[in-house]
Amino acid sequence: MNKFAFVTGANKGIGYEIVRQLAEQNYHVFLGSRNEELGKKAIQSLGFANVSFVQVDISDTDSIQNAKNKILEVTNHLDLLINNAGIALDFGILPSELKIETLRKGFDVNFFGTFQMIQQFLPLVKNSQGGKIVNLTTDMASQTMFDNGQAGQLNILGYNSSKTAVNSLTLAFGKEFGDNGPEIFGVTPGFTTTDLNHNAPGGKTPVEGAQIIVKYALSDTNYNGKILDKNGIIPW
Ligand SMILES: NC(=O)c1ccc[n+]([C@@H]2O[C@H](COP(=O)([O-])OP(=O)(O)OC[C@H]3O[C@@H](n4cnc5c(N)ncnc54)[C@H](OP(=O)(O)O)[C@@H]3O)[C@@H](O)[C@H]2O)c1
Repeated sequence: MNKFAFVTGANKGIGYEIVRQLAEQNYHVFLGSRNEELGKKAIQSLGFANVSFVQVDISDTDSIQNAKNKILEVTNHLDLLINNAGIALDFGILPSELKIETLRKGFDVNFFGTFQMIQQFLPLVKNSQGGKIVNLTTDMASQTMFDNGQAGQLNILGYNSSKTAVNSLTLAFGKEFGDNGPEIFGVTPGFTTTDLNHNAPGGKTPVEGAQIIVKYALSDTNYNGKILDKNGIIPW
């Protein structure tokens, strides 16, 4: 049976490289992009026959449903759902200065968007033997690591707390799924130089960031309900 993966926010950055690496492993990959032109450009520049474009804005319920219908025209099962799309709007803004609108916007995409993606696509993931949902997160969303200094120390409440909420849904869905699949887990690529952080120097390349995600996505180990960095399971 063909293997199918859906990667959101894949017109650039880490998501784009995740698509490439999965396509190289003979997955049929649906490259999700909210912008049709950018998504189609990405498909062209990747140059794989086994990658196809699916428009999806994860903050828009209709768009998610349309994406699901498009994928259902091709397959009724998804082996991998990679919830990669995300935004970070409050770099350089202290919690005391953060506008409520900015906080809401971050949650709308990172948390509510990821939640809706999971609910909508769960039936397809359940139709796959060993289906997995992978949520992109950050070490700064780990309360333990942020507090004890093991994580990056950017005190960006909007971004960090939206990803903490993503971790929380990872745990909650993981408890629901139990030991018999599907699997859901969070992975942080670690600091990676991309548009998300205005290409701040000193991070991993998107290729390196994507390798960490793909390693766990293709692993035989069951990581259901866990959050991970490149070295393994990290604390909440
Ligand atoms: N870079 C890091 O250091 C780092 C560290 C830890 C975790 N992460 C996580 O890794 C993931 C990928 O980030 P990146 O660094 O590769 O960032 P990026 O280059 O900015 O890519 C983000 C992607 O998400 C898309 N996106 C944003 N809002 C969306 C929406 N409402 N619906 C659909 N797609 C949407 C963007 O589309 P547009 O091009 O249309 O804006 C873009 O394709 C994010 O979840 C991020 O939080 C990154």
